[in-house]
Amino acid sequence: METPQQQADPAPAPLEYEGAHQAFKDRWRKTDASMCRHSMSFHLHHTLRSEFFASYLYLLEKTPVVKLFPVTCEYIKGEKQFYYRAQKFYQDVPASEEGMMGDFLEISHVDLEGSRQFLRRFVGPGKAGTHCALDCGSGIGRVTKNVLLPVFEKMELVDMMEHFLLHAHEEYLGDGADRIETYYCYSLQEFTPPKNKYDVVWMQWVACHLTDKDLMNFLFLCKKSLRPDGVIIMKDNMARQGCKLDPIDSSIGRHLDIMRCIIAKAGLEILAVEKQEGFPEGIMPVWMIAMK
Ligand SMILES: C[S@@+](CC[C@H](N)C(=O)[O-])C[C@H]1O[C@@H](n2cnc3c(N)ncnc32)[C@H](O)[C@@H]1O
Repeated sequence: METPQQQADPAPAPLEYEGAHQAFKDRWRKTDASMCRHSMSFHLHHTLRSEFFASYLYLLEKTPVVKLFPVTCEYIKGEKQFYYRAQKFYQDVPASEEGMMGDFLEISHVDLEGSRQFLRRFVGPGKAGTHCALDCGSGIGRVTKNVLLPVFEKMELVDMMEHFLLHAHEEYLGDGADRIETYYCYSLQEFTPPKNKYDVVWMQWVACHLTDKDLMNFLFLCKKSLRPDGVIIMKDNMARQGCKLDPIDSSIGRHLDIMRCIIAKAGLEILAVEKQEGFPEGIMPVWMIAMK
């Protein structure tokens, strides 16, 4: 189901759909003849689905703001596949810095330094306080340990994988673990952060794991979880064009404009946007967005 805000978007000009509609109609004729005749409903279902995606992908190229609903809505045996695949993926990821960084451990220190500098812009006298922060999709607490714990008195972590949180508490955070108030083992799409609690909510490389609608809802809840002058900071891969689905870890890189659109729909105001410099050219660009 689309949200009311999504429905309110102006429809693209009819011409933009014509190519896709024609391709769909041409293919449908063949499908009708060769498949329906034999009542192969399983094949018919799959053919329809792939045809739908073909048309949809065509539209992705034509329209600047894309709705990813069709890509992320597939259910099999009651499981939303987009989330099920991510769960499966992270089950086998080791609780280590290597695991958090995929194949890119070597850029971790540049990433952390970029984060520390960006955070400084929003915290301090007359800005956000330093009482408590929430690290969303924290994993083992790589960001908590190296960026947030040096600034905030207390921290809370939320991640869907128990083995990451256990490792954070028992080993990775060392003495810093004494200042972790709560570990929440939750999927963000099912998590409601406590109200009026955090000076900073940090979300790194996890917005990409939420559907448009769940991300919008979660950002909306995060806004309510902020203390006065608090900020939400998102750091994530942003596609150079449209949206890019990675079927291996079930994540979506969105173009910055699409992310801006989701943020606006969550009722948040963007304070600053900055590209993370010093990453290899070959990877998807990473951007930091501060909002309140
Ligand atoms: C690439 S790791 C990044 C970890 C950490 N933010 C960092 O930068 O080191 C992605 C993390 O997001 C978590 N994650 C993925 N999907 C999630 C979801 N729907 N809800 C909560 N956590 C999720 C994974 O378990 C994993 O710990």
